[in-house]
Amino acid sequence: MKQNISVVPLLFTRKWTLSIKMLRGFIKMGKTRFFPKRDYHFDHMKNLCLVYFKLTALCNLRCVMCGQWGEKGVMKNCDISEEAKKILPLEDYKRVIDEIAPYRPIIYLWGGEPFLYPHIIPLVKYIVDKGLYVSVNTNGTFLEKHAEVIVRDKWSTIFVSLDGFRETNDTMRGRGAYDRVLNGFAAINREKKRQNSIYPILGIVTTVTNMNYQDLDRLAEASREYKLDVHIFNLGTYTNDRIVAAQRVFMKEKLDTDIDCLAAYNTGYNAHIDGQKLYRILQNIHQKDFGHPMITVPALNPEKIHTYYADLETPVRNHCIVPWCQTNINYNGDVHFCADYPDYILGNIKAQSLKQIYNGERANLFRKTINACEGGMFPGCLRCYQNMLFGEKIRGY
Ligand SMILES: C[S@@+](CC[C@H](N)C(=O)[O-])C[C@H]1O[C@@H](n2cnc3c(N)ncnc32)[C@H](O)[C@@H]1O
Ligand code: SF4
Repeated sequence: MKQNISVVPLLFTRKWTLSIKMLRGFIKMGKTRFFPKRDYHFDHMKNLCLVYFKLTALCNLRCVMCGQWGEKGVMKNCDISEEAKKILPLEDYKRVIDEIAPYRPIIYLWGGEPFLYPHIIPLVKYIVDKGLYVSVNTNGTFLEKHAEVIVRDKWSTIFVSLDGFRETNDTMRGRGAYDRVLNGFAAINREKKRQNSIYPILGIVTTVTNMNYQDLDRLAEASREYKLDVHIFNLGTYTNDRIVAAQRVFMKEKLDTDIDCLAAYNTGYNAHIDGQKLYRILQNIHQKDFGHPMITVPALNPEKIHTYYADLETPVRNHCIVPWCQTNINYNGDVHFCADYPDYILGNIKAQSLKQIYNGERANLFRKTINACEGGMFPGCLRCYQNMLFGEKIRGY
């Protein structure tokens, strides 16, 4: 099955400058894997290759499996108006971008729904004007409204979440989401043609659950019409009570941190997925030529897919490299390594530079602690999306 790096040759055929920017990121990630992991007295910013900006916690949808706003979501009962007040001003992001631009990382914007961040348009323009690669992960419901400016400002990549056809997608993501996403694709493609531009590279992310997995091949087939550049199948982040309990104890003991976020991924939406059937469906998808790459995250040896769902406690990736080359800046300025689990705070960009935070004591304590763990990951890291993307593949998987 195709790995995420297979996007690079695709981009090369569309726009070689973009592909070089992305390749640079993969090379840095490779370096952090092959060279010894240094904890102290090393400038880790040198290896920074991917920076997540979680622009806002707010979202206009309530996707059932979402760790933030879903049925078990950690934000479910929060005071929305209070969360809205916490967002960073554009100036703070500009300062961080100025600081990290020399390291040429890929910038990944997400949320909540990133289009609910009021300054997203000038922010992306600022990033693009700095010559950085920017990828935006959106639920796609605001694409139509902003299509003209997205193409005009040459956003590098947009990944739109689409989980099925109308009925399935809207059961998972909310009524009307499917039609708004399709209208968004049409608007972007129309603008690309009108403005004679290849930007943005357009992708779908399909989060696999027990509600949609039997329909993935039909969805892949239909995606030909959307004039896509890439389609990613995300096998999903999930966990169970035992792993959450083990992580809770571990994080308290070793890093004096209370954890809230992991339990939100114990959704049940990965239960009873027939791994053999999913394997046949994915195999079918990967054997066909859709004119754009189909990528599965994590890329597993096909016969092992059942393990992913049936045996959650068996790792399929280990040795997380995220703390050595990536970081996430939360909407309130807090900096974390783990984008989906913002429990352990490294520092806040309103008080310190990113370099001070990234090379700081709390960051190094985290690195040292995870490095000392068996397999180079914490008990809660099993099936973490970031580790699925960037962890080391365990032999056989
Ligand atoms: C949290 S959303 C934020 C961006 C935007 N609101 C969206 O939906 O695309 C980022 C991605 O995580 C995916 N996602 C949601 N729940 C998930 C889960 N339990 N496991 C893995 N990915 C999930 C979404 O489908 C989306 O592609
Ligand atoms: S649109 Fe994204 S952030 Fe909003 S509920 Fe759905 S997955 Fe979560």
